Amino acid sequence: MGGMGNEKEVSLRSGAAFVKSLERLKYPNESIVVGPDLPQVLSQIKCDCALLALHGKYGEDGTVQGILEYLKIPYTGSGVLASALAMNKITTKQVLTHWGVPTPEWQMADLTKTTSKEVKLQLQLPVVVKPAREGSTVGLSIVRKEEEFHKALDTAATCDKLIVIEKYIDGTEVTVPIWGDTILPIIEIVPKSGFYDYKRKYTPGETEYIIPARISAKAKKLCEEYSLETFRAVGCRQYARADLRIDKNDKPFVLEINTLPGFTETSLFPKSAAKVGITFDQIIESLVEQSTLDYR
Ligand SMILES: Nc1ncnc2c1ncn2[C@@H]1O[C@H](COP(=O)(O)OP(=O)(O)O)[C@@H](O)[C@H]1O
Ligand SMILES: [Mg+2]
Repeated sequence: MGGMGNEKEVSLRSGAAFVKSLERLKYPNESIVVGPDLPQVLSQIKCDCALLALHGKYGEDGTVQGILEYLKIPYTGSGVLASALAMNKITTKQVLTHWGVPTPEWQMADLTKTTSKEVKLQLQLPVVVKPAREGSTVGLSIVRKEEEFHKALDTAATCDKLIVIEKYIDGTEVTVPIWGDTILPIIEIVPKSGFYDYKRKYTPGETEYIIPARISAKAKKLCEEYSLETFRAVGCRQYARADLRIDKNDKPFVLEINTLPGFTETSLFPKSAAKVGITFDQIIESLVEQSTLDYR
């Protein structure tokens, strides 16, 4: 838990919830608050499984998974390639496009190669400008006027020089938890005001979550289909949570898939599972028991 990215605080909370669950399940366990010395720390301990409560950069992106592969410590969640693919919104969209899974129209900018001033907007406004490899809505802007575009690129570039520019999908936001072959109830996300940014994600009361989502039967079926296709196309393992937007014509688009979704006691994934009678501990037990390596 913890880690070196922007999502450290959430990760510590997921980690604390995992520890409580491990205690209830009577698994002997030890917490590691991840820092730059993780490779050394891991090389000195003996364990049967690493239960990953990390999120975002240096946790959800294949780097920790790589260290664990090297040390032959089975870990929970997706492997190296799927984690890295999913962390990068550009490679995710390339894979989705290849498999015919709808994702909003997009272009990319690489500010290691050009300046923000040189980037020409090829999409119709409004657009969303976001760092390719970040999470928790950090560095993201919604651009409604042409003159805001370059500032939005510079904002995104403070997180990552690799930037996704995406058509803004006006409509309903949902997130779809997948656990093995099971699609858990779809969650509708309704921010009380504005959009689903960091504050509205993590401040209680700022956003309303409705389970099951109030969407049409047709949209529900498509969201489930696209989420499972995304899970498989990216090559995810054990569990993940896909973020989608449904436009005014009732057409869903996949934004991204989170390979180590937030897992505090009040997080969306366990909340959705609880709706169908699946407990927090049942999920943790299955993650631990089925933890594995890419190279078995
Ligand atoms: N194309 C889009 N259209 C409308 N809203 C978007 C779009 N892309 C992102 N958003 C908003 O920004 C939030 C974060 O975007 P997302 O792509 O899920 O990245 P992350 O969660 O990794 O920061 C979404 O939950 C959504 O509210
Ligand atoms: Mg998201």
